[in-house]
Amino acid sequence: MIQGKRIVLGITGGIAAYKGATLCSRLVQAGAIVHVIMTESATKFITPLTLQTLSRNEVFIDTFDERDPSVVSHINLADHADLIVVAPATANVMAKLANGHGDDMLSTTLLAATCPLIIAPAMNVHMYEHPAVIRNMELLAERGAMFVEPGTGQLACGYVAKGRLAEPEDIVAAIEAWFAKTNKLKGKHVLVTAGGTMERLDPVRYLTNDSSGKMGFAIAEAAKLMGASVTLIAGRTTEKPPSGVTLVRVQSAADMLEAVTSLFPQVDIVVKAAAVADYRPAKIHEQKIKKTGNSLVLEMERTTDILQTIGEQKTHQLLVGFAAETEHIERYALDKLRRKNCDLIVANDVSAEGVGFNGDTNAVEVYGQEGLVKALPLMSKRETANRLMDLIAERLVKRGGNME
Ligand code: PMT
Repeated sequence: MIQGKRIVLGITGGIAAYKGATLCSRLVQAGAIVHVIMTESATKFITPLTLQTLSRNEVFIDTFDERDPSVVSHINLADHADLIVVAPATANVMAKLANGHGDDMLSTTLLAATCPLIIAPAMNVHMYEHPAVIRNMELLAERGAMFVEPGTGQLACGYVAKGRLAEPEDIVAAIEAWFAKTNKLKGKHVLVTAGGTMERLDPVRYLTNDSSGKMGFAIAEAAKLMGASVTLIAGRTTEKPPSGVTLVRVQSAADMLEAVTSLFPQVDIVVKAAAVADYRPAKIHEQKIKKTGNSLVLEMERTTDILQTIGEQKTHQLLVGFAAETEHIERYALDKLRRKNCDLIVANDVSAEGVGFNGDTNAVEVYGQEGLVKALPLMSKRETANRLMDLIAERLVKRGGNME
């Protein structure tokens, strides 16, 4: 999994820096191309020569020590890395990254990088439990950083507690697992819908719903991370789209229907997280509707059910619908699954706190033809999306649809 991958290994100034040497060696033995960046403080614990010898590459410490005039080193390292691993990561380096500070080679590289990041913290237990450190780690996790948790045991400061750097073997296992995951949907085309549709009433008014697009965007990002090529069809949303996906913006349910059905024959997986209007105004007024002294009655007509339409056309595609419910979750979800010919339906009880529309968290129950497949408790939408895409990839393998 690691063979030929370019890994930037950041080593920061804690006593566990010496374990960075073992980690570097294991990664090189597994076939990775390792470029080490040390902070000044790390060099107080272990010499750059050790890391240079183990990595068989020059070690970077100083941002201004530019050895190759044809490149800017921190940008070059960031641009070409498949993965950055910071191990051990001190409270200081995490604080810098969480707050956007770039004052040395490692922090500037981290800011310039768009590749995934694995952080293995190591520090005194009270530092690890400090609210500021916890907040910084939460912030970094929200932005997509992955963590290899420290272990519990004898700390260099004398405490027996949590804070020891995870063993190099465990960090390598986490790196391998991550690379394995990035291959899970390689060669697959995933279509995701997100956000709410907008149904025009007149030039200045429209009907929509509370969908922010966060759930669908997180799913698109998770699918992308698993190696799929992803098309994201987005209705109304202010979310920043994940990088590396093809984004198609639509407004109405009719636009979304057209975009989805035109792509449907060539995709392998569809995840319909969008909140599509069931009704639209029967007439779109060309001019702004003027108010009168009377009440206004709007005539609404049904939109086409996109999920049901593609459910009827389904050949090889794995079809995953969502169900936003406020009661009888299982009954309604299973009814939608069967009526719309889905392979899986992801039900969220949108009346529950922190679940469904708009927020950053969700809790879902995933149903298949056989009934409940998995209940995912309240967690971030990003984590929900990751778990969901894992389930979807498993389904694909089960029915022999994965070409890997
Ligand atoms: O966007 P967020 O703020 O993050 O919120 C996430 C979410 C609550 C929107 C998401 O988790 C969710 O539940 N999405 C589905 C919302 C919805 O429209 O549910 P529904 O039960 O009304 O529809 C069932 C399924 O049919 C959905 O997959 C929907 O996309 C699809 N549908 C519905 C109507 C229609 N005309 N065409 C459709 O394809």
